[in-house]
Amino acid sequence: MRVVVTGGAGFIGSHLVDAFVARGEEVMVIDDLSGGRVELLDLDRVTLHHVSVTDAAAVTNLITTFAPKVICHLAAQISVRHSIANPAADAETNIIGTVNVLTAAATVNARVVFASTGGAMYGDGVVLPTPEDFLPGTEAPYGVAKYCAEQYLALFNRLHRSAHVALRLGNVYGPRQDPHGEAGVVAIFCGHAAHNDQPTIYGDGEQTRDYVFVGDVVEAFLAAIHYDSDGVFNVGTGIETSVLELLDAVSAAAGRQIQPRFAPPRLGEVRRGALDPAWAADTLGWKATTALRDGIRITYEALTSGSRERASGRLR
Ligand SMILES: NC(=O)c1ccc[n+]([C@@H]2O[C@H](COP(=O)([O-])OP(=O)(O)OC[C@H]3O[C@@H](n4cnc5c(N)ncnc54)[C@H](O)[C@@H]3O)[C@@H](O)[C@H]2O)c1
Repeated sequence: MRVVVTGGAGFIGSHLVDAFVARGEEVMVIDDLSGGRVELLDLDRVTLHHVSVTDAAAVTNLITTFAPKVICHLAAQISVRHSIANPAADAETNIIGTVNVLTAAATVNARVVFASTGGAMYGDGVVLPTPEDFLPGTEAPYGVAKYCAEQYLALFNRLHRSAHVALRLGNVYGPRQDPHGEAGVVAIFCGHAAHNDQPTIYGDGEQTRDYVFVGDVVEAFLAAIHYDSDGVFNVGTGIETSVLELLDAVSAAAGRQIQPRFAPPRLGEVRRGALDPAWAADTLGWKATTALRDGIRITYEALTSGSRERASGRLR
């Protein structure tokens, strides 16, 4: 099967590419390398096109020529803080870029599986864990753009009778992660632990998120590809983990208790978050299986082993 992975040189995308290659699929990556790294790809087995998804003509040309069956669309501006500083640039990549991918997909009837966000979608004061039908109360342009992109998926499904799927990812962590994304805190803590530095916690450390291991997220993409209908699915554990609990897990992996310093809370930060994964379990047959402490240990060991699996771009 021919598969395109946009953003395939990034953290999650490169793990997904590896999974496709291991299954013998023919993989083409579209990535502008603004956040991704060529060395995360095995270029003997994967074709990389250094192209931005904002370039509609180039994207259409690549996709019509390759004619993939599936497009996993992960290319994105991933920083919530950048989206607040420059909402137009965020919208250009995350909305227009998605429309370009959907338009190109329609020319060859390719199915799109889109990396949306759960962590930045629902906002505060919601039912926890939050199900998919809860109305978005996003606090940042990044979440608005992802929600808007989901609406385009649904629109294209109505217009073209396609079955595109959106996966609302929790805070994904694991080897190869860069510290700047949504779950960058794991990479940051692991980097501090490896260097024996003191990490900073903003606020009291009791704020919670749903941390999901990258290997489980790859499995969710594979399950979505084999699902024969459209839909929006939370991809999380359903478990709230506080920043302090996370630091404990990193401390356990590093073999010593790491003492943080505390700084004032950051404005606009959501207090609590967890995604209800029941719909994904019922329909996709997907469930996160990696316990947080195991996933953190794998991430920390990858970082300190100095292999291709490094957890943080900071330590290159
Ligand atoms: N990491 C998380 O916790 C998390 C949570 C929810 C959703 N997501 C989504 O998952 C996807 C992958 O995120 P990640 O954490 O692997 O981030 P990442 O930065 O490692 O990967 C994104 C990739 O997209 C590429 N890219 C950026 N702009 C592009 C453009 N205009 N054209 C082509 N390529 C472009 C980057 O070079 C990078 O390789 C993103 O869509 C992100 O919004 C991530």
